[in-house]
Amino acid sequence: MAISTVRFSKKDAKAPRAATLRKVRAAMARDGAVAFEGLFPLPLLKRLRADVMRRHETGQLRARGLVRDIAGRCTAVVPFEGPFLDPRFYADPKLIAIMESLLGASCCIGSLEAVVAMPGAYRQHQHIDGPLRFDRSVGGRTKGYSGDLSDLPPYAVTLCVPLCDVDESNGPTAIWPGSHRTALRAKPPGAAEVGRKFRAQHMTGPLGGAFLFDYRTFHGGTPNLTSEPRPVLMFVFTRSWFRDPNLTEVYPSVVIAKRSLARVPERHRRLFMLAPAARRGLWERG
Ligand SMILES: [Fe+2]
Repeated sequence: MAISTVRFSKKDAKAPRAATLRKVRAAMARDGAVAFEGLFPLPLLKRLRADVMRRHETGQLRARGLVRDIAGRCTAVVPFEGPFLDPRFYADPKLIAIMESLLGASCCIGSLEAVVAMPGAYRQHQHIDGPLRFDRSVGGRTKGYSGDLSDLPPYAVTLCVPLCDVDESNGPTAIWPGSHRTALRAKPPGAAEVGRKFRAQHMTGPLGGAFLFDYRTFHGGTPNLTSEPRPVLMFVFTRSWFRDPNLTEVYPSVVIAKRSLARVPERHRRLFMLAPAARRGLWERG
């Protein structure tokens, strides 16, 4: 079955309707993914794109953003500055209501990264973003938790915001809807089983769309066969206790200057709890 699409209208501008939230929750429970239309206004998306491409083309992302090359994709942390400091982006009422309904009222931003798939970027292996394992190691033997954790509610979700039109030629993300329910079995499935049981869907669409997926949903980038870079944002929200094991060497994953954080409306500041600027230095100076 195809991933559901939620279309936002002007009626959702201040807060999404209860029926909309129910639809998002049902889609995330069934497929581990949901697509959005009209989440962010086009002028805002164009300003975000200009900012990402400027930082990319000047080499700033490469120099400052701890770029990781993932199958020809430059992945770098982006600071909450300029258009990213606009509350219409990080605290859009629809976005926050969706995150709170999935992750609880104390949810926060886990990371904000730009992923620029360069021309020639090749197929990324099928994967989930953040394994949650309860292993223990005794006498040199590592043993995984033998129970089935498939029924856990979401603890981390990624909002992918394409900053350009995405079609089959420039590297859409492939998602295997429904596969999130298998990732935390006592014995997780391999790529062959996921491919056999679930049908991949390529997340294509014009600028203005976005999609949300659970950290446990199997996915992977497809090749960029064009001569143009393909920028997307990966905006991660988590429950307050979750730390992404894939980002242990990326610090900080939430970048905001102290003076910028002071400009964030009080009610939204908790979203930035993982940023160093939000921490009180006790023993350390500076
Ligand atoms: Fe991923």
